[in-house]
Amino acid sequence: MRLVLKNIARLLMIEDEPKAKVAGSDMQRVNSLEDAWLVIEDGKIACFGEGEVIPFRDDEVVDCKRGMVMPAFCDSHTHLVYAGSREKEYEDKIRGLSYEEIAKRGGGILNSAALLSETSEAQLFEHSLPRTHEIIRSGTGAVEIKSGYGLNTRDELKMLRVIKRLDEETQLTIKATFLGAHALPREFKSNPDGYVNLVINEMIPAVAEEELAAYIDVFCDRGFFTVDQTGRILEAGKKFGLVPKIHANELDYSGGIQVGVRHGALSVDHLEFVGEDELAVLKNSNTMPTILPGASLFLGLSYAPVRTMIDAGLPVALASDYNPGSSPSGNMELIMSLGIMQLKMLPFEVLNAVTLNGACAMGIEKTHGTITPGKVASLIITRPMPSFGFMPYAYGTSLIDKVIINGKIQ
Ligand code: NIG
Ligand code: FE
Repeated sequence: MRLVLKNIARLLMIEDEPKAKVAGSDMQRVNSLEDAWLVIEDGKIACFGEGEVIPFRDDEVVDCKRGMVMPAFCDSHTHLVYAGSREKEYEDKIRGLSYEEIAKRGGGILNSAALLSETSEAQLFEHSLPRTHEIIRSGTGAVEIKSGYGLNTRDELKMLRVIKRLDEETQLTIKATFLGAHALPREFKSNPDGYVNLVINEMIPAVAEEELAAYIDVFCDRGFFTVDQTGRILEAGKKFGLVPKIHANELDYSGGIQVGVRHGALSVDHLEFVGEDELAVLKNSNTMPTILPGASLFLGLSYAPVRTMIDAGLPVALASDYNPGSSPSGNMELIMSLGIMQLKMLPFEVLNAVTLNGACAMGIEKTHGTITPGKVASLIITRPMPSFGFMPYAYGTSLIDKVIINGKIQ
């Protein structure tokens, strides 16, 4: 059966063919159609056009009531599979401890790892499923989810199996990333290379054996993993077909961007610390710089210098980083608002960053991220708004009326 969307005030991000990432001044450009309609067939975008549409007798018709239609969000960086929550730690932060100090005291990622090890796979699935429903309601159609709260082979595999099950049992398009090197477990405190060896020799082969991940991540930053350790882990992952997508330069000029690019990373993420050298390295690469402004907001850290990056001709993706420690929200409308308010991005730059460039950062730009015939019909229908810029501007107010994922109204 066909689904016909009529009465669309503006259809945004239209392209006749799938297109690669958008960079630099092109990020200000979005192709759109006024007074439009769109037809969905078998979960895919079939066609769209201008003016009146005359539906077939069996078509299901959705009246968009002069709202806009855009691609669903492609959130390319989350940790939304986790056990428990860490609001108590946030109180320590309010009292003056930093993220790194909390981590050093055994809080932070290690706290989530302890909670996760006591949680069964079935319970972890039950805890994580509502988060996927929540992000679907808030407009996300495709999402990347990382492991990294296991920190031993059994629990890393447990997380990745849960991610696989979420992919099978929800409408979301999900890409899984193995992040064994997220933090150093307590028992390896005086033997960090011992843990790196465990990741390389035991975890990576086990993850690959069960085909549980497409990507491999390392938290390459001050107090976490070094450039050298990161390089070794990425190299080992690549031998098993895992493509790098790493955490870098959140806490310092860590060298993470350079090591990520050197290993052909699909994306390098966070990037609060970016200087001339980092810009030059990114400029000569195919790596997608991915910015997570929710973490800067929640932790009170500086924001990534996105204006400088785009003005230097780079592409940028924005993602939520949904996780219990540094950004406990998967709300991409809020991320869009942070884009205009804190990162000084223009509304269309933000739109490209949360759709097409997010899709590129997950390697799914051929099927997601623009409104193109043949692509997956994962779309947002907005409430009527005077211009697209109203959506990020009206921060805290959801402008989403309906969400369609894989051609199904949610
Ligand atoms: O992306 N920076 C490293 N990892 C996560 C935080 C994880 C946590 O605190 O639980 C992040 O911010
Ligand atoms: Fe993260």
